Amino acid sequence: MLTDLQKEILDLKDEKNAILLAHNYQPGEIQEIADFLGDSLELCIKASEIEAKDLVVFCGVDFMAETAYILNPNKKIVIPDIEAECPMAHMLSSDEVKESKEKHPDAAVVLYVNSLVDAKAEADILCTSANALKIVESLNEDKILFGPDNNLANFVAKQTNKEIIPIPDGGHCYIHTMFHKGDTAFAKEKYPNAEIIVHPECNNEVQENADYVLSTGGMINHVKESDNNEFIIGTEIDLITRLNREIPDKNFYPLLDEAICKTMKLHSLEKVKNSLLNEKFEISVPEDVSKKSLNAVQRMIDVSK
Ligand code: 13P
Ligand code: SF4
Repeated sequence: MLTDLQKEILDLKDEKNAILLAHNYQPGEIQEIADFLGDSLELCIKASEIEAKDLVVFCGVDFMAETAYILNPNKKIVIPDIEAECPMAHMLSSDEVKESKEKHPDAAVVLYVNSLVDAKAEADILCTSANALKIVESLNEDKILFGPDNNLANFVAKQTNKEIIPIPDGGHCYIHTMFHKGDTAFAKEKYPNAEIIVHPECNNEVQENADYVLSTGGMINHVKESDNNEFIIGTEIDLITRLNREIPDKNFYPLLDEAICKTMKLHSLEKVKNSLLNEKFEISVPEDVSKKSLNAVQRMIDVSK
């Protein structure tokens, strides 16, 4: 049952002709009132399809809201807490991308959607964890500059004949790199019948010890279709909140309880209400950068559909 505050937000949302988009890592109380809940790719595709709404409230981190803006420069896109940044996206600057391009002029540039908007403007195409291999394989070039996540780069490199050059050295997610080989061994011992599913942002040793390596959307689809009843989930903790709500007859165990993305949790119901009432905090991207990065975003969506 919804709380009074959740109902108030739903009424405000109607009044403002707003849509609430939320990432799978949002806390349960926000998941419950979102119009659309998804992984980064699903959210990009959804953002590219918004037509009738006046206001978009984005509960996720900065790069997700910015991508929604790039796709909808004439709409008002707001984020409930402006400090909600993805630290990994900030590990690669546009200058570093430019320098790498100069060093490897024959390479295509594939950037993870978890990147800064200025860096995206230097990319040929974006990718997410759901489509990275497909994106790389769709390109004519045999040499690929790939950033900023080194683990996703390695995940792709293991499955393609193309040369993958990770940029920058050491780009990573501080949440997914918390998991170690010992955690998978311990979880498997505790839950011997459970499948281990981890995110491609995890270290190679964790990926190698898992049964499946999937994006958050891929994890949801997999467990829905699986005959198995028990799963060890190696990603941010609130994905399990969604799994428990949508698939109550199966059992989900976190690989680590501490896997909490702090900036994803900066959003709260109070802040969502504030962002609807005061249309804050507005996301905007300089027009030239927005136009330049749209090409890479749209190209990814076209390849993925
Ligand atoms: P997904 O696209 O798999 O939801 O991943 C986004 C993310 O930030 C992972 O940490
Ligand atoms: Fe960024 Fe990692 Fe948080 Fe995802 S979980 S938003 S990659 S810090």
